[in-house]
Amino acid sequence: MMMAGKCPLKWLLLSLLCHLTVTLAVTTTVPSPKKTYIVHMDKSEMPADSFADHLDWYASTLKSVVANPDSAEDDNTAGEAAQRMMYSYETAFHGFAARLSEEEAERMEEGLGVLGVFPETVYHLHTTRSPMFLGLETEDSTSVWSDALTDHDVIVGVLDTGIWPESPSFNDTGMSPVPPRWKGACETGRGFTKHNCNRKIVGARIFYRGYEAASGKINEQDEYKSPRDEDGHGTHTAATVAGSPVEGANLLGYARGTARGMAPKARVAAYKVCWAGGCFSSDILSAVDRAVADGVNVLSISLGGSVSSYYRDSLSIATFGAMEMGVFVSCSAGNGGPDPISLTNVSPWVTTVGASTMDRDFPSMVKLGNGQMLSGVSLYKGRRILSTKQQYPLVYMGSNSSTPDPSSLCLEGTLDPHSVVGKIVICDRGVSPRVDKGRVVKEAGGMGMILANTAANGEELVADSHLLPAVALGAKAGKAVKQYTLTNSHPTATLAILGTKLGIRPSPVVAAFSSRGPNFLTPEILKPDLVAPGVNILAAWTGKAGPSGLPSDHRRVRFNILSGTSMSCPHVSGVAALLKARHPEWSPAAIKSALMTTAYVHDNAYHPLRDASTGAPSNPFTHGAGHINPLKALDPGLVYDMGVQDYFEFLCTQKLTPLQLKVFTKSSNRSCRHILANPGDLNNPAISAVFPEQSSVSVLTLHRTVTNVGPPISTYHAKVSQFKGASVEVEPRTLHFTSKNQKLSYKITFTTKTRQPIPEFGGLMWSDEKRKVRSPIVITWMAPM
Ligand SMILES: *[C@@H]1O[C@H](CO)[C@@H](O)[C@H](O)[C@H]1NC(C)=O
Ligand SMILES: *[C@@H]1O[C@H](CO)[C@@H](O)[C@H](O)[C@H]1NC(C)=O
Ligand SMILES: *[C@@H]1O[C@H](CO)[C@@H](O)[C@H](O)[C@H]1NC(C)=O
Repeated sequence: MMMAGKCPLKWLLLSLLCHLTVTLAVTTTVPSPKKTYIVHMDKSEMPADSFADHLDWYASTLKSVVANPDSAEDDNTAGEAAQRMMYSYETAFHGFAARLSEEEAERMEEGLGVLGVFPETVYHLHTTRSPMFLGLETEDSTSVWSDALTDHDVIVGVLDTGIWPESPSFNDTGMSPVPPRWKGACETGRGFTKHNCNRKIVGARIFYRGYEAASGKINEQDEYKSPRDEDGHGTHTAATVAGSPVEGANLLGYARGTARGMAPKARVAAYKVCWAGGCFSSDILSAVDRAVADGVNVLSISLGGSVSSYYRDSLSIATFGAMEMGVFVSCSAGNGGPDPISLTNVSPWVTTVGASTMDRDFPSMVKLGNGQMLSGVSLYKGRRILSTKQQYPLVYMGSNSSTPDPSSLCLEGTLDPHSVVGKIVICDRGVSPRVDKGRVVKEAGGMGMILANTAANGEELVADSHLLPAVALGAKAGKAVKQYTLTNSHPTATLAILGTKLGIRPSPVVAAFSSRGPNFLTPEILKPDLVAPGVNILAAWTGKAGPSGLPSDHRRVRFNILSGTSMSCPHVSGVAALLKARHPEWSPAAIKSALMTTAYVHDNAYHPLRDASTGAPSNPFTHGAGHINPLKALDPGLVYDMGVQDYFEFLCTQKLTPLQLKVFTKSSNRSCRHILANPGDLNNPAISAVFPEQSSVSVLTLHRTVTNVGPPISTYHAKVSQFKGASVEVEPRTLHFTSKNQKLSYKITFTTKTRQPIPEFGGLMWSDEKRKVRSPIVITWMAPM
């Protein structure tokens, strides 16, 4: 109380002073507002005798640009510089983050040993925010066999929104002590004590300086400034990676089952980098740096930003450093589909994961007044169950033109209660979050909702736990329902919500929202690398938010269902942890290769994988090498292995300046040996042949080396698909291995027959009777300018 009395006066004085300084400053130079910059440093350029260590050197570098030439007070400048320093980065890459004005950032670029100065960027979680309301086990082919593996001393770092430690998915009963090599920590704060870490959650840290610098101090009443997860996303992804089995997971009596992560005996370390206001690159970088130093084996990163270049993308630089330290990194591809060229996280050293469906569905029916039945999906019947015998009036606020308008999209403030009270409202998908449309309908007095896909989403059905009874329909059924509603004077319908169904065919199907190639930065590197389950995924949830994530949702659930490449990424992280447990000596590239070459490209009806956005077969720009097949990945036979220098040689083909390359080499003496004739020569499991515009180039030869990780004596034969535009020769066509870890090389030569206007897809398979080592092939003829 005393403080409260004193504060205003003090504050007033301060603000007057502040006002004064600002006014003065304006008359001299106009200072631009300070922003966070990430400064990449070349440690080897530190003047040898002048500094105690590189931190001292970074501080001095910062001081030299912050220094006000008019100020005689050197101590003040040092103090000011110290305050501006936010992070120093040591492990995954070298440098620091600091608050700088634009002019200071420009001066910084001239500094000794400064490789680059980049403004902070904001990254986003790759969830489609499509939670639903059910308790079922995450039953897919990968969860059964994982029991067979023991002694997982693999630690997976999850960069996300934190963790809800009370979730039974993080129960550590029966787990062995934390391996002594682990250097992580359990940071405490509001709602999070040392006791919240255990043998399952072996580390929990927070990274918020970039966030606070951009958005102001975290209001501790609104947001936990601790590893505790109030959003739910981080709890969900961590549990998908390594959640302990939880029997009888169920929700309000809905289906019961065992929920478990992909690697139920692996351990997780939560690195909270995402906050209510976003995920900031300086924080993400610090977390990757810290996680690598802590000793994680796998990093799971379900977020991304926009891609402009390898050396400007903080995640690309940090994950290069992680790969260098032997850490496998899996990242979400993004939810920008079905638009082409919508990928994020395209660096070849990370595994980029797209999303597909599982064989589980939540069927429901819409029965129209004319007797027509349309099938869709739903999870929430509502508290007041609609009678399936009674028909309810149906309303659609749009027209029969194919373009949705604000009220057909059920955007905030567009529904007139007079028109919707007591009715089932048809809303078009798009623009606003799906669950938010349900809220808008409910608040306007609607009884229920039919959420209709537009052409962009095709027949992909994502179930949500809406705040009212709702059924999601594909584009075709949606069109029928709208047509009926617009052409009848008294349209009616009823909704029947039928529960859970397993064994859905076809599945998997690649999600319409899953981001697609081609890879904008380097078409020779096929992305995504593969797909994994990312639609309607059940996993642990926070106790702090309802399943829809809407502030007005007061339901509390222990498990929730989400969709997004955010959900498929941790599946791959978990399976990578299993491979690491089984084959501790495998490099990140070997693990990635095993996952890719064993992936399958057909569905459970034995047809080629389909694309939910079109219903037609999908292609490698959508599914990469195919759908993960964890059991097969344990015994891939051959791997396309690579080390740090290989990835660096790839960067040498990317027209980076020596200074830009230095960001990746750091203080090592690594240099370009120019051994790759073409970026497509990188020893990637996927093969992408890109013919330049000049039609004079009609022959392209790419090289690959495979390492035998199967039986010492084995023979593999090549089989390659036929293409319209080119003939393809593999040489040699047979590989005889005589020892384990033996490396053999082959060439694959593409000779253009007729340049094709669109890329052609196929595959190369090396087979030894028992194992099939498959590479997707893409041939692209660049159009003349
Ligand atoms: C953890 O799991 C064990 C064994 O399944 C069980 O006995 C115990 O009650 C669980 N603890 C919590 C906090 O759920
Ligand atoms: C829209 O409906 C009106 C009236 O039923 C009809 O005349 C018109 O052809 C329809 N337009 C389209 C594009 O279906
Ligand atoms: C680079 O460094 C490694 C070890 O740090 C050393 O073995 C090698 O000879 C160096 N190469 C050059 C070209 O200096």
